[in-house]
Order: sequence, then C-alpha cells, then structure tokens
Amino acid sequence: MSKLPLHLLPDTATELADGSVAIGGVPLLELASRYGTPVFVYDEQHLRNRCREAVDSFGANRVVYATKAFLCRAMARLVHEEGLMLDVATSGELFVALSAGVPADRCVLHGNNKSLEELRYAITAGVHHINVDSFDELDRLEALSAEGLATPKVALRITPGVEAHTHEFIATGQDDSKFGFNLGNGDALRAVSRAQRSAAVELIGLHCHIGSNVFAASSFARAAEVMAGFAAPFDLPELTLGGGLGVAYVAGEEAPPIAEWARVLLDACRSLGVRSAVNVEPGRSIVAGAAVTLYTVGTVKDIPGVRTYVAVDGGMSDNPRPIMYGSGYEAFLPRALQAERNRRVRLVGKHCESGDVLINDAQVPEDLHVGDVLATPVTGAYGYSMSSNYNMVTRPPVVFVRNGESRLVVRRQVLEDLVTLDLD
Ligand code: LLP
Repeated sequence: MSKLPLHLLPDTATELADGSVAIGGVPLLELASRYGTPVFVYDEQHLRNRCREAVDSFGANRVVYATKAFLCRAMARLVHEEGLMLDVATSGELFVALSAGVPADRCVLHGNNKSLEELRYAITAGVHHINVDSFDELDRLEALSAEGLATPKVALRITPGVEAHTHEFIATGQDDSKFGFNLGNGDALRAVSRAQRSAAVELIGLHCHIGSNVFAASSFARAAEVMAGFAAPFDLPELTLGGGLGVAYVAGEEAPPIAEWARVLLDACRSLGVRSAVNVEPGRSIVAGAAVTLYTVGTVKDIPGVRTYVAVDGGMSDNPRPIMYGSGYEAFLPRALQAERNRRVRLVGKHCESGDVLINDAQVPEDLHVGDVLATPVTGAYGYSMSSNYNMVTRPPVVFVRNGESRLVVRRQVLEDLVTLDLD
C-alpha cells in the first residue's frame, strides 16, 4: 500500500494547495473538463528537457528520435526544433514528418519490409539515409537505381546476436529475429561487401538496435563491443547503436537517465577505439514519462470475496501495452495526488472483452467513486501511437501543456470519422 511515486510524473507536475495536481501549470481536472476524457496530456517542457538531455549527451545531429513511440505534427516540429533527426519506419511516418514541415534530409527511413513505393517515396523526398534491412531491399534499391532515381545514402542494419533483457516481442538483437543482417551467420559481412560494390547505394554506416525498454546499460555496452569489432575494418563514417533505453513505469522501477546511457555507450565506444560518429535512436525515453492519460471512472463493480472492477471510459484502444506485453502501470486521482492508495482493484476499459485490462492489480484511494477523474502516468510512448478504433471507440485527443497554457494538438475523433473510409 503506498502513495504514487512522484518520479513517475512529468517534470513540471506540481501539487496545488488543495492537494490536486497541475502539469505545465494547468490543473489536470481543468483539462479533463475542458477537453473531456479520455485525453493524453503531454508536458511540453518534459519533452523538450529529454530532447535537450539527449542532444547535450550525444552531440548535435547524433540523436534520431524514433517517431513510432509518439508522432503527430506538433511532436515532429518539437523534436526538429530541438535539433533531433527523425527515424521514420514507414511512408506514413515520413508523410507526417514532412507534412509538419520537417525537411526530408532530417529523416532516416527504417523498416524490415520496405516496399518499392516506400523506398521510391523516401529517395524522391530526399531522406538523409535509409537503414537497409535485407538483401531483398538491396534488390529493390538496385531496381530503383536502374529507373534513374538518385543514389541514396544507406546504413546496414546488423543483428548483433546480443540478447537484451526485455519482453520477447520487443527484443530485436538476438539471432532469431526478423530484423537486419545476422552477424553470426556471415550475412552482415556479405551485405557490407555487396553494398560497397553496388553503384545503387552509398554506404555510410552500420546500425543495430537490440530491443526496447532495456534497463541494463551493460546490454548496450555489449552491443557496442560487438558492433565496434565488426565495423572496425570498414572505417565507415557512422555507427548507430539504436534506441531501447527503458523507463520506469511502476513503483520500485528505476531506469538509467539518458545522460547515464550516453556515458556508458560513449565510454564503451571510446575504449573500443570507435572512430565513426556514434548515433542513437531513442523513442520511449524521450516521450514515455511526458504524458499522463486522464480517464473518467464510469462503473465500479464489487464482487465480494473475488475483486472489485473499476471501469474507465478508455482501455485497450488507447493503451494496448498491458495486453500485448503484460506491461504494468500505476493509477492516481488527480484530485488527491498524495492520497494513500489502500484499495486494490482491477482497472479495466470499456471494450467488449475480458482481456481489456489497464492495470491488473491497481492501488487506488479508498474513496474512489464513479465520476472521478483517474490518471495513469507514463503513457507518452506507444500509447497514442498504438491506439486503435476497436469497438469503434473514437481515439482520444492529445493536449500539450506548458507555462500555464494548454493547446489541443490532435483533436478527439468524432463519430463521423469512423465512416470516412466507407464508400457504400
Ligand atoms: N530504433 C529502432 C530501429 C527501433 O526498432 C526502435 C523501436 C527504436 C529505435 C526506439 O526504441 P525505444 O527507444 O522506443 O525503445 N511497442 C513496444 C515497443 C516497440 C519498439 C520497436 N522499436 C512497446 O510498447 O513497448
């Protein structure tokens, strides 16, 4: 039984005189009544602080924000303003970045199965470089070169055979992976020599990403060691060592700050004699802690001797992570930040399936009641970006708060949005 650990809140969170919470100087309860619930509230200063920490730690032009973690036009502009580049994993992510006014040469294209159209779009737009993931992709780049398209700069994504200690679905560095050229079986070496010989691409570097939500800085140092050893003979200008830094989601968890990650990685690279520029691609560690989701409690069902279900007005459509990865979250009442959370309940959504659980065993204050606004912190990464319209539930809006002001950067979907694609 405990109070909410305050380090899970965004940087500018403050407790007001009445015990309620403000973020960016705006009371959360005011945001809930102004924008409705569910709503994603992002602390803009927190986003900028993490971007600055990353750029200060790794150097200008060395940080590529992984847009899959959270992307909308306001976010694309913010990271661009802060001097980060943007990792786009599909033509959709590239389109959003470009439509926000981010120059194409600040974008890097990723993806394990890029289509000919995606590659053509990225090359024509003029992306900074493409991270090539497979021999089939090299075939496609050669076909595009034969069409007369410009020669793209490329890096090769290498699968270093490093096991990251994270959820199986988000580990990517091990040999058994759909991503990249395996180092262990010689594919990586074959890919480098093919790319070096090919007139269709200009090879500028190597890339690896061992997984996501990794807490052990030593896993990154190990990947750096393997990659540095492999890369040394080629003397390429760039080496990208992925994203993947974990964040604390629940009480008792602690993740290394970005500056610490940088220290471990860059120290490892220095002692390994790496001469290439070292790039990183953080997603989660930039955005996760910046947001809270606000919901309204609609139903409290007590089953004596079994448990209490507390249902809110969102669920797996705005946060599928508990279902997909068994991820844990905390909950608090914005009206009473420091309240003891002595009641254990199962926090569920409004979707038509029993698996629609947001927090399996949530601690909430005793006096939680229907109509309360309830918040889950650390929902800034892979929440909005993985949201869906399951059960034709409309997607929540996204609000940025800063210096006492809020602005709606993505509006709430309305019912008419649910039929905009229907032709009949
Ligand atoms: N670079 C590459 C090539 C990636 O595949 C990823 C994430 C990143 C960078 C950013 O990783 P981050 O710093 O965010 O860990 N949906 C999952 C996470 C999937 C991550 C996929 N790739 C989740 O909700 O945990």
